[in-house]
Amino acid sequence: MRYFLLFLITITITYSCNLSPVTESKPRRTFSAVEAFTMATNLGKGVNMGNSLEAYPNEDSWGNPIQANYFTLMKQAGFDTVRIPIRWSTRALNNPPYTISNQFFQRVDEVVNWALNAGLNVIINIHHYEELNTNPTAHKERFLALWKQISQRYKDYQENLLFEVLNEPNDALENYWNTYMLEAINKIREDNPERILIIGGIGWNSIEGLTNLNVPDDPYLIATFHFYDPFVFTHQGAEWSGSISNVSNIIWPGPPSQPVSIPANIDSWISNWLNDYNTKQGDDNPCSSNFITKKLDIVSNWSKQKNIPVWMGEFGVYGRFADINSRARWTHFVRKECEKRGIPWCYWEFSSGFGIYNPQNGQWNSSLSNALLEQ
Ligand code: BGC
Repeated sequence: MRYFLLFLITITITYSCNLSPVTESKPRRTFSAVEAFTMATNLGKGVNMGNSLEAYPNEDSWGNPIQANYFTLMKQAGFDTVRIPIRWSTRALNNPPYTISNQFFQRVDEVVNWALNAGLNVIINIHHYEELNTNPTAHKERFLALWKQISQRYKDYQENLLFEVLNEPNDALENYWNTYMLEAINKIREDNPERILIIGGIGWNSIEGLTNLNVPDDPYLIATFHFYDPFVFTHQGAEWSGSISNVSNIIWPGPPSQPVSIPANIDSWISNWLNDYNTKQGDDNPCSSNFITKKLDIVSNWSKQKNIPVWMGEFGVYGRFADINSRARWTHFVRKECEKRGIPWCYWEFSSGFGIYNPQNGQWNSSLSNALLEQ
């Protein structure tokens, strides 16, 4: 009877405190510092768990909620790393102390623990903080307060949970980014002095932004960039990318055997690009492999010169209009060229519009997963 009562009390306490009784939802071990170049090598092959925890307003609003088995599938397929984009800004108070919803934190805990326990390296970030980009001075303190809370919450987690300071700084924030980034790093360092942090430049994490980044004097940093070149190819049909949404039939590499028609009502830089795509031959074609290797050379030269490892945090081709063979060829080429230069990579993304896995039928999109994981 005494044991039964004890059991009842334990159960009551567990549930009334709203503690998760699921034991596998705890990280397996604590922190042990790793050198930045070693961590970059460990990041290896990655994939973004995109369009989920950064979806708006809810995790399932973009039709792609995270399932518990995704991370074991990734690991079994051969991935080393998952990046989990997170929109914290809509789950926190708008006024000081900018408290993040505990319910949302518990969901992030659960997802991060699934991924770590599947044996993956995990990167979490602040994603789609749109008001910070458009109105930086009004949102700076809130941005730093978000990092303080995230940093405190995960400070004892194992070292292969990495923090990425901000996804794709753009717009008005560009003028402030080098300072705000440094302040965010200092804030995170109060609780995580040796955790690896990922930093990226302005222009939506462009290569130009990377090479203009003021790299702080901190040995535990990896720099990131995103690669969607040529943008007219990778984003043809993308509803969120202005008049590129009207472009289709762009193959990789160019030129096409028959010129594509140039849609009316598109921005002039796109029609100029399409004109070159239709007419220029070989290495001069803007949709050629040459344009890719030249850009990746800029990245690897910068990395050597600054003595900081780089990681390609996003790359991929949207699937609405692009043909699957071009998508697979581009994906294979880009990741192999990164590997040649010792740049670890992270594909955008797992199970949505760029996806390599179809959650409806539980099948891999093998053209793309092979492009990423096979020789
Ligand atoms: C954005 C996504 C977008 C992708 C490709 C990401 O950084 O968060 O919404 O689909 O880039 O454009």
